[in-house]
Amino acid sequence: MPRARHHPRRALDSDGNPVITTKGLTKVYQSRGRQVTALDGVDLHVREGEVFGVIGQSGAGKSSLIRCVNLLERPTSGTVTVDGTDLTALAGRGRRPNKDLRAARSRIGMVFQHFNLLSSRTVRDNVELPLEILGVSCAERTRRALELLDLVGLADKAKAYPTQLSGGQKQRVGIARALAGNPKVLLSDEATSALDPETTRSILHLLRDLNRQLGLTVLLITHEMDVVKTVCDSAALMEKGKVVETGTLADLLATPGSQLARELFPVTGDASGPDSTVIDVTFHGETATQPVISQLSRTYNIDISILGAAMDTVGGRQVGRMRIELPGRYEENVVPVGFLREQGLQVDILPAGGTETATPAPVTETLVKEAAK
Ligand SMILES: Nc1ncnc2c1ncn2[C@@H]1O[C@H](COP(=O)(O)OP(=O)(O)O)[C@@H](O)[C@H]1O
Ligand SMILES: [Mg+2]
Repeated sequence: MPRARHHPRRALDSDGNPVITTKGLTKVYQSRGRQVTALDGVDLHVREGEVFGVIGQSGAGKSSLIRCVNLLERPTSGTVTVDGTDLTALAGRGRRPNKDLRAARSRIGMVFQHFNLLSSRTVRDNVELPLEILGVSCAERTRRALELLDLVGLADKAKAYPTQLSGGQKQRVGIARALAGNPKVLLSDEATSALDPETTRSILHLLRDLNRQLGLTVLLITHEMDVVKTVCDSAALMEKGKVVETGTLADLLATPGSQLARELFPVTGDASGPDSTVIDVTFHGETATQPVISQLSRTYNIDISILGAAMDTVGGRQVGRMRIELPGRYEENVVPVGFLREQGLQVDILPAGGTETATPAPVTETLVKEAAK
């Protein structure tokens, strides 16, 4: 293994060590005499040891962001700092990356949607490629490559050629190659988009394991909410070149009106009639395990209907949302609602009348349609 340190899983707090920071990152492409603003002042903070997901519709600027983070793409303005090094300052003015930038980049692994393996090279030789470029000796390269293939579960495929592998196996090779330079951070642009759901799960678990075993910080781009829910500690939502929401999943869930939270935990259900109050309650942390709803019912002697619910484990923590209905209009329910808030629950009152009508079409729906294209 590149680094045999074992990192105890620790709670990430909002002032954890930033490993990737972008400030005012802008990218404007010149395309056929037109200007396209792909990134419009992006401030991103990815903390050490976390898996950070960037989600957004096609064209939102996700790929531009990740390509600017390792300076594959030169930002138009703004700064990118990775592991304490200001890459934008290293990039200089020339077209070709200088030695310092190349060295800094070797500490950043990159995994691609279409694997980008060389078909004329064996699996082992593909993994050795970045080490060749770094000038590592032949014997050492081979040793490392075999070690990395073992790490990704492909020890027996060293001599195979990419065409002899399944999509999931190809992506494992892509991941082993990305780890060759012993990177501190791993960037992944839609690494699982070309894979079936089961293979997607196994690749995600691999990324999560690497994150834990090696203390690797992972910045991944996806258009699938499930990916975010399964592996991410934090997430950002991008729209039109801007980050419109960002935070740990727990923080997002605790943010009233958060679009990401709503899409991570969609709840539905309509009021039974006009004379009732419909509330979305979000449980996280300790509140998830307390019987608040039955306490509410007993304390105020009211009948509560559960219209919809979704419980899940996010980043190892139990969270959930529940849509409940209380008899009577909101004015009559101010006290019970206050009770729920006192219990540390997040409470969103739905507008009287149509429940779901005020909600814009969820991003995921559009994303799923796009993925199907
Ligand atoms: N090399 C390029 N030249 C011109 N326009 C580009 C280039 N790359 C991306 N774009 C444009 O920038 C915007 C953001 O693209 P991209 O970063 O690929 O978004 P995403 O990965 O979220 O789909 C889009 O409008 C896209 O057409
Ligand atoms: Mg993209």
